Amino acid sequence: MHSDAAASPNQPAWSELYADHLARQLAQIEAALPLSGCERLLIFSGTDKVLFKDDHVYPFHANPYFRRLLPLPFLADSAVLIEPGSKPKLFYPNPSDFWHQSAGEPEGFWVDSFEIVEIERAGQIGQALTDPASSAFIGEETAMAAGWGLQHCNPETLLHVLDWASSIKTDYELASLRQASQIAVSGHLAAREAFLEGYSEFGINLAYLAVTGQRECELPYGNIVALNENAAVLHYQHQQRMAPEKIHSFLLDAGAQVNGYASDITRTWAYPAGSAGSVAFNALLKQMEQLQLKLCEQSVAGASFVELNRRCHEMLAQVLVESKLVRCSAEAALEKGITRTFMPHGLGHLLGTLVHDSAGRVSDAKGTELAPPPEHPFLRLTRELQPGMVLTIEPGLYFIEPLLVELANRAESKLVDWAVVEKLRPFGGIRIEDNLRITEQAPENLTRDAFAGLESA
Ligand code: GLY
Ligand code: MN
Ligand code: MN
Repeated sequence: MHSDAAASPNQPAWSELYADHLARQLAQIEAALPLSGCERLLIFSGTDKVLFKDDHVYPFHANPYFRRLLPLPFLADSAVLIEPGSKPKLFYPNPSDFWHQSAGEPEGFWVDSFEIVEIERAGQIGQALTDPASSAFIGEETAMAAGWGLQHCNPETLLHVLDWASSIKTDYELASLRQASQIAVSGHLAAREAFLEGYSEFGINLAYLAVTGQRECELPYGNIVALNENAAVLHYQHQQRMAPEKIHSFLLDAGAQVNGYASDITRTWAYPAGSAGSVAFNALLKQMEQLQLKLCEQSVAGASFVELNRRCHEMLAQVLVESKLVRCSAEAALEKGITRTFMPHGLGHLLGTLVHDSAGRVSDAKGTELAPPPEHPFLRLTRELQPGMVLTIEPGLYFIEPLLVELANRAESKLVDWAVVEKLRPFGGIRIEDNLRITEQAPENLTRDAFAGLESA
C-alpha cells in the first residue's frame, strides 16, 4: 500500500526526508520512554467504528501519534512497536477478504524503515507482544490494550513530551504541509471560478473536490463553503443545493491532507455584480487583507501569540472606525470589547497532523497549562513563537446574528452605526487564513507561495 503523494510526479525527495524524520521521532520516543516506566511503546492506529445498530463504519482517521510515524492516515488496526535498539516493528493488516479491498503489499518510501509483520486482524498484535506489562500503549482502544496485558495506556508524561516536540516540524513534515497547501490552493482557485459562475455551495464544493482529488472523507476537516450571510457562521456545516437569488460574497475554509498532515486555508471573495453594499464590502476586504498581511509579517520567532492576537484586535478596531461601523475611537472600540463581537475566535493555531495541533496552550514539555487571556477564551495558541512551528494566521470580521443582538442590548450599542451593519450583513463576513512556517526573520507563507505558484502557472 502506498500514499498517493508518493506516486505523483515532481515530488520532494521523500525517502531521505522521511528517514530523517522517523529517526527524530524514534529518538524522541526513546528518550521519553523512561518517563512512563516502560521499556517499549506500542502506538495503535485505531479501529473502525461501526454505526449503532448498523453494519457500516464511520470514516476512519488514524490517531495523530501514528500519523507522525507513518504516511498511512487511513490504515486501521495497525500498530508500531518501538523498542530502543531495535528496528521499529509495524503490524500491517493485510487480511484476505472478499468484502473489502485489502491493503496489499507494503510499498512506498517508508517500507525499508520497518520490520513489517503482516497480520489478518488486530488481535494478533496482542498475541505477538512478549512482555506487555513493561510496554506503554498509545491509542484510543484502551480496553482492547488492557485485554492484551498492557497496563500503561496513554501515559500523560510521555504524551506531553511528544506533543511538545511535535510543534517543531521536520523537513519531511514541512514538505508534506507545503504540498497540503498547494493541493488546497488548487481547490480554492477552482472554487472561486465556480462561485463567479454562480454555482451553489454544493456545486462549488464539488469543484473543489474534483480539482484537489481528495475525497470528502479524506479531508482534514469538513469544508466550510458559505455564500452570503452563511459566512457569518464560523463553522458553517451545510451546503445549499440551490444558489441564492442574489449572490453577494463567498467564504471558503478548506484544506487538504498529505501524508497525514493538514492544510487549513480560508479565502473570502466578493461577487462582482455590485449589490448595495458591494463598495463597502470590497473596501472592508482590502482592509482585512492588509491587516492579515501585517500580522503574518509580525509572526516571527520570539513573538508572543497572545500579543499578536491583541494587536489583531487593535487593528480590527481601526478597521471598524475606518469602515464607519463604529462612531467611537479605535481605543474605545477595543476597550469596550466591540472588536470581539466582530471577531469572536482566536487569531490562529498550530497546524500539523491535527488541524488544531497539540501543545498550543502549554509552556513546557511537562504540559504546564498556558491559559488564554480571559477575554479571549477561544485563543488556541498562547505560546511564544519558535522557528519551525507551523501555524495559521486567520483574522476575521463577521456579522454574527446572536453576537450583534447581544451588542445591541448593551450600553455600547450607541457606539455602533447600525445602518452600516445592516448594509453589510448580507455579506456574512470575512476570514483570510494562511499557513505559516515560523523563522527568525520573515515567515515562510505556505499558502501565499502556493497561490503565487499556481496563479502564475
Ligand atoms: N478550519 C478550522 C479553523 O480554521 O480553525
Ligand atoms: Mn484555522
Ligand atoms: Mn480554517
